[in-house]
Amino acid sequence: MNKELQDEINPETRLVDYYARRAPEYERIYHRPERQEDLRKLEQLVAQAFRNLDVLEIACGTGYWTQFIAKQARSILATDCNREVIDIARHKDYTPCTVSFVESDAYSLTNIEVSRLAGFSGFWWSHIAKAKLHKFINALHSKLDDRALVLLIDNRYVEGNSLPISRHDGEGNTYQMRRLADGSEYEVRKNFPTKTELTERLTPYAHDLKIEFLTYYWLARYRVTSRE
Ligand SMILES: C[S@@+](CC[C@H](N)C(=O)[O-])C[C@H]1O[C@@H](n2cnc3c(N)ncnc32)[C@H](O)[C@@H]1O
Repeated sequence: MNKELQDEINPETRLVDYYARRAPEYERIYHRPERQEDLRKLEQLVAQAFRNLDVLEIACGTGYWTQFIAKQARSILATDCNREVIDIARHKDYTPCTVSFVESDAYSLTNIEVSRLAGFSGFWWSHIAKAKLHKFINALHSKLDDRALVLLIDNRYVEGNSLPISRHDGEGNTYQMRRLADGSEYEVRKNFPTKTELTERLTPYAHDLKIEFLTYYWLARYRVTSRE
């Protein structure tokens, strides 16, 4: 997409369009050799976290993490706003877990009716504007039982390894320039919270919050606070 056109489109629409177009090449990001050790650790954690639980996954993308949740979860309702990524995710093998896919906007989840025992979202938090984080957390928690387990994972910024930050906006968000295989370029919002920021952001909504930073990734695990 050319720069002039991108400037006219708001960051939310641009992000959705970027991931729709990136869908066929998306999982290359999981092949980077230096990240394999961290990935194996995360995959194991994700596989073990949801034993016998009914999991709601937000922004599931091509189902990379869905595969690991499926190893022990009872069922997964996996959501994303892009049909293009869900079409790829549907073709993975999740046996023996029952997995269904629904197109849904992470900020509203209006078409998700059942209440679930656990929530998961991978590599979505970093794309959310800081001013909209509360909207995502509230939407997610409104679909989960009190004390439901939540696991969030995402990228850390690693100098010399992560794509450089191309811009800061006035609301504390950062952006990167991303290039797809066809040469098209997108400015994509990508935030890299510190442990303190994550703690401050999640504490009002969380019991037993545990945040861990690996070399390339962070993970936050907690239980939803009661909504009394
Ligand atoms: C970085 S990818 C993460 C995909 C997958 N969770 C993973 O970790 O491999 C971000 C995903 O967010 C989805 N997305 C973007 N905006 C969204 C929205 N408003 N609601 C739901 N999903 C959204 C994109 O379609 C994309 O699949």
